[in-house]
Amino acid sequence: MNTRTSEGIAQAAREAVEAALWAPSIHNTQPWTFAVSGDEISLRADPDRRLRVSDPTGRQMTISCGAALFNVRITLMALGYEPEVRRLPNPEGPMLLATVRVRPGREPGEHTRLLYGEVQRRRTHRAGFTALPMPDPLTDALVREAAAEGAHLAPVRSDAPARVLAALTGAAQDVQAQDRQFVLELMRWARPPGSARRDGVPVAGYPTDPRRTYPQHFASRDYSRGNEWGAATEERVSTSTGLVALLCTPGDAREDWLIAGEGLQRMLLHASAYGVSAAFHTQALEMCELREFIRRHLCSGEAPQMIMRMGFVLDESESVRRTPSDVLE
Ligand SMILES: Cc1cc2nc3c(=O)[nH]c(=O)nc-3n(C[C@H](O)[C@H](O)[C@H](O)COP(=O)(O)O)c2cc1C
Repeated sequence: MNTRTSEGIAQAAREAVEAALWAPSIHNTQPWTFAVSGDEISLRADPDRRLRVSDPTGRQMTISCGAALFNVRITLMALGYEPEVRRLPNPEGPMLLATVRVRPGREPGEHTRLLYGEVQRRRTHRAGFTALPMPDPLTDALVREAAAEGAHLAPVRSDAPARVLAALTGAAQDVQAQDRQFVLELMRWARPPGSARRDGVPVAGYPTDPRRTYPQHFASRDYSRGNEWGAATEERVSTSTGLVALLCTPGDAREDWLIAGEGLQRMLLHASAYGVSAAFHTQALEMCELREFIRRHLCSGEAPQMIMRMGFVLDESESVRRTPSDVLE
């Protein structure tokens, strides 16, 4: 299927980097750079794009890069190659998060093709979901997808813990909204209408008039900062919370963050293939006291990496990306 010549490998590496760009990233910071040398792709975190106020340890930056790493892997596999991954290969160079060797592989299976087909289609949702519930077999499949990467997707099926998460999200959002440093940082990544930038959250990515969701309401990030920005809310507004879920990892070191990103992207692509979108509400995980509370009381001692809601949507949101030449060293 693939031409295992150096040209074939170079072409596959280019396609893998193009696909990597479509990974989700905190505030669409796209905090990564890539280098291709022979049959090896290196993925580095870009510290200039780390959020110094809300992500001082680089945890969310690394999760974002983990999602990009999964896109590299699935693209190579879909093209008939075998990605040979080394995570954090150089303790002296902490920004080098992974190297991926492009090895001869086999004909891609149906599931690989299915996930690959969603790389550019998947979008973050930022409103309520339709009343259509998540089918249990699909939720179970998403749990397995995350587990295959070493991450733990924990659906929150009962009302009380979902309410606790919603309340903590609201508290974190309110605290951050009063903190000048948090607000200034968010402003940097919330693009005004008409902006030509290819990063940050565009106005088409969130509704002008976010409605409350039921049974629980999760506060959204305030990307519009009091302006009437955002996409018009459609007539048939969806107001269901959807299925609340936590993504956790047993440890909380940099490798765990990378794995969390890979598991996240793998389950998001699978969800997308079945028409399911995810909305993220990670404000509480940016406040160490609240993150610790969630770890102890809602994650059985595992490290919480993402808080999300999942469900079916009527309208797709929009996003933007930089070009491969922007991210290739
Ligand atoms: C670690 C991480 C945390 C995120 N947290 C939030 C969040 O709190 N609120 C939100 O609306 N989106 C959140 N997102 C989604 C990003 O804003 C989104 O991926 C980015 O804008 C690119 O858009 P896309 O996912 O539609 O391609 C998060 C993404 C990642 C990877």
